[in-house]
Amino acid sequence: MASDTATTASCRLTGTPLEVVLDLGEQPLGNGFLSSADDFASEYFYSMRCGFATDSLLFQLIDQPDPGQMFHSNYAFQSSTSGFMSAHFKALSQTLAEEFLAVNADPLVVEIGSNDGVFLKHFASRGVRHVGVEPSDNVATIAEAQGVQVERRFFSADTAAVIRESNGPAHLIYAANALCHIPDIRGIVEGIDLLLAEDGVFVFEDPYLGDVVKLASYDQIYDEHVFLFSGMSVARIFTEAGLELIDLEHLPTHGGSMRYTLGRRGVRKAKPRVESTLASEREQGLHETVTFCELADRVARSASDLKRLLEHLAGQGHQIVSYGATSKSTTVYNYAKIGPELISEIYDSTPNKQGKFSPGVHIPVVPESDFVDSGARFAFLGAWNHEKEIRMKNEYFEARGGRWITHVPQVRLLGD
Ligand code: SAH
Ligand code: TYD
Repeated sequence: MASDTATTASCRLTGTPLEVVLDLGEQPLGNGFLSSADDFASEYFYSMRCGFATDSLLFQLIDQPDPGQMFHSNYAFQSSTSGFMSAHFKALSQTLAEEFLAVNADPLVVEIGSNDGVFLKHFASRGVRHVGVEPSDNVATIAEAQGVQVERRFFSADTAAVIRESNGPAHLIYAANALCHIPDIRGIVEGIDLLLAEDGVFVFEDPYLGDVVKLASYDQIYDEHVFLFSGMSVARIFTEAGLELIDLEHLPTHGGSMRYTLGRRGVRKAKPRVESTLASEREQGLHETVTFCELADRVARSASDLKRLLEHLAGQGHQIVSYGATSKSTTVYNYAKIGPELISEIYDSTPNKQGKFSPGVHIPVVPESDFVDSGARFAFLGAWNHEKEIRMKNEYFEARGGRWITHVPQVRLLGD
């Protein structure tokens, strides 16, 4: 049942209407785990359709549920659940401090979407002035317990003004896997412009459109991910605020991400890889609607291939489970129509998801620590982006004949 509470988000730079280029059907909230079967009947669904804006070059959701429904006092995603990502943020805090903060005696670092403090705690412990902007109370509380200063609100031009008023300008504004969550892209641009020091840098990283097109990783799309950015779209969006790209760095995180570094025009020299990355985006067609129409065909094939493989294995009498109750897998299960009849349970390390049912298709989520006792021969990598970490810590699974299933870049059994 589609709910009428979905809002058409203010996620456009101009008023040009968007054509649907990819339709992923009726979807629940990606992180909307349900506590009890009594909640199934009233579950919230919305139409997940994507469009491509030929002016801003943004690939984006056409409608998005109200952000208040997704980011609240019981937000399920906790950054520190991945040891790999924790190490990533620790190393980055050091690199950014050396590259951009060393010249300043008393710099200010602001993070948008600071979650449980996985990045900012490394500044807090070194006594660096910082502010985390985080609307989800439960994760903000975990960050505060580690000495991180948190503004419990949504980042916007107003929030930027409040932070500047009390702390002065920011020398580093950072956001990881957060900007793509914020529908009001104009408010972001304005807020960054308001808050950034003259010689400051704005660094953000998000799942990368180029990888989604290359890998047909359509599960990077869910309610929280309003935008999939490219270097070309970011350059366009921030132009009007007088910001320019000074670096673009491709990252392996979250199944393929891009880190964008922006500074005020003319203040810092752009690295040569900015030009070369933009050129390869053109070659890939990230500026053309036709690219996304072709993607839609590959996505439909990927979903039907996955369902066919699971049905084949189940038909042979095998139990299939899943590993990682990701938002990404919510998109896959609901689009491909895969439920408990094909995947009996999902193993996950996040306490807040355990004992609940997955959104939309209602597969039970159980503690990751029980995986060792699972008799299943096949496990779908719901968290395919953490393949290395998950396979390493569960080597015994393959040693006893278990097989991992993935759907990225194509549906297959790992090891074949
Ligand atoms: N940076 C972390 C968390 C990513 S999850 C990491 O990479 O692991 C995205 C986070 O952004 C969530 O904690 C969510 O509550 C927060 N968020 C959502 N909308 C926001 C907004 N408008 N301003 C600031 N944070 C926001
Ligand atoms: P993530 O890939 O960040 O997913 P999304 O952004 O799509 O929600 O989340 C990883 C999920 O997988 C999270 O619920 C924790 C779980 N997980 C494990 O259970 N074990 C692991 O070893 C790892 C790396 C993740």
